[in-house]
Amino acid sequence: MPANPHQDPRTVTVRILTAVIQNKRSLNDVLPAFLQQENQNNALIHELAAGSLRWWWRLSTYVDQLLSKPLKPKDFDVYCLLVIGVYQIQFMRIPDHAAVSQTVNSSREIGKHWSRNLINAVMRRFIREQDELEQKFKTNPVVIYSHPGWMIKQLQADWPDQWKTVLEASNKQPSLTLRINASKTTIDDVCQQLRDDEIEFSVMTDSPVGIVILDKSKIWHSALWKQGLVSVQDESAQLVACMPELRPGMRVLDACAAPGGKTCHLLEVEPDLNLLALEKDSSRMQRLEENLARLNLNAEARVADATDLDSWWNGEAFDLVLIDAPCSGSGVISKHPDIKHLRRPADIQQNIQNQRQLLDKLWSVLKTEGQLLYCTCSVFRQENDQQAQWFINKYTNAGVIALDGRFGLQMPYGRQRLPSESSDGFYYAGFTKNPH
Ligand SMILES: C[S@@+](CC[C@H](N)C(=O)[O-])C[C@H]1O[C@@H](n2cnc3c(N)ncnc32)[C@H](O)[C@@H]1O
Repeated sequence: MPANPHQDPRTVTVRILTAVIQNKRSLNDVLPAFLQQENQNNALIHELAAGSLRWWWRLSTYVDQLLSKPLKPKDFDVYCLLVIGVYQIQFMRIPDHAAVSQTVNSSREIGKHWSRNLINAVMRRFIREQDELEQKFKTNPVVIYSHPGWMIKQLQADWPDQWKTVLEASNKQPSLTLRINASKTTIDDVCQQLRDDEIEFSVMTDSPVGIVILDKSKIWHSALWKQGLVSVQDESAQLVACMPELRPGMRVLDACAAPGGKTCHLLEVEPDLNLLALEKDSSRMQRLEENLARLNLNAEARVADATDLDSWWNGEAFDLVLIDAPCSGSGVISKHPDIKHLRRPADIQQNIQNQRQLLDKLWSVLKTEGQLLYCTCSVFRQENDQQAQWFINKYTNAGVIALDGRFGLQMPYGRQRLPSESSDGFYYAGFTKNPH
């Protein structure tokens, strides 16, 4: 159903939450259909949707406490409205009476007018009993950190000393980080332009081309954006292009390439790479091609399964192979709170198999003395240093490339950045192929 510009943002958010939580669609996929061009409600819809998904485990626990009996499964929309209602009270500066009346009014728009008294009563009780509810659940990590129990357990096992800070960082509103297009401009020129445009920013310390934008609204209208001098990319992702030494003419494979953040970054650092970008999802490949065009960069882009060598490889080996592997995304939850709802423990096992298959197959397309870079936006060790360990044990001709402190904590194999206030969680490992 197309978005209706006259609907209250809360009603629109109910439809978004249903699409994500019940129909297992990603927030990025569903959001555009619900936002109207230049509509002043877009920011509120975005905040309500991302916030409700982010704090779902906490807020749904409170709602369950306040309902005298559980709602029927067919009334999941009413349940979403209740979560959106308490989200506004707990996290937004909307006056309580306005939040209650607007949320109650949405009950008519979702076609459940009967629920108006229920919504009114639950929200008013929440306003009165918020402190008691917080006290009651103050030792329950699922409620405090609002993550599924299995993810919390995994983080406790992987990061016994850091799991709380990882969860706290994953619940932060994400910052907007830009990558400067080093082939066209310099960081000093971009800083000057941002000052001239009165856009607040700070310069990242680990990536040489990273800038955090504090004032998000103006940047999309700036000349910097329109001229392709900057792109959106997290600092941890930007570091991938700092791993290898790039030379003109180098034959590079970006095996899991879409939407092309790292493909474009590699080409901005060295525009004369002979780069093949593979991606198995054709709609995501379209975004990669749009990004190459926007930035006026050249690469061969092919829709293919990188593990099916017969379908794409001409037998000419690569100097550099990048595997930005499909993974849980557990390092990027602040930007994608829907990940908490969409991932299941069984997905990790599937990821591990896929990652190993990519490592196995793509090691064979690498030249002797060439480099293979493996990275994920995950903080689960099974997808990261444990995969690197498996790889090193299997391939005796693989040597480990040393990475510096910018790449985060030194792990037995590779390095790990944990999510922080300003950047995502990311894992990096580099291997050289030694002669046998
Ligand atoms: C982490 S994302 C890549 C992000 C990208 N490198 C960037 O910087 O914008 C992983 C991508 O790999 C793709 N993918 C997963 N398995 C693949 C395979 N066997 N062959 C090619 N692409 C694959 C997924 O569809 C997804 O687009």
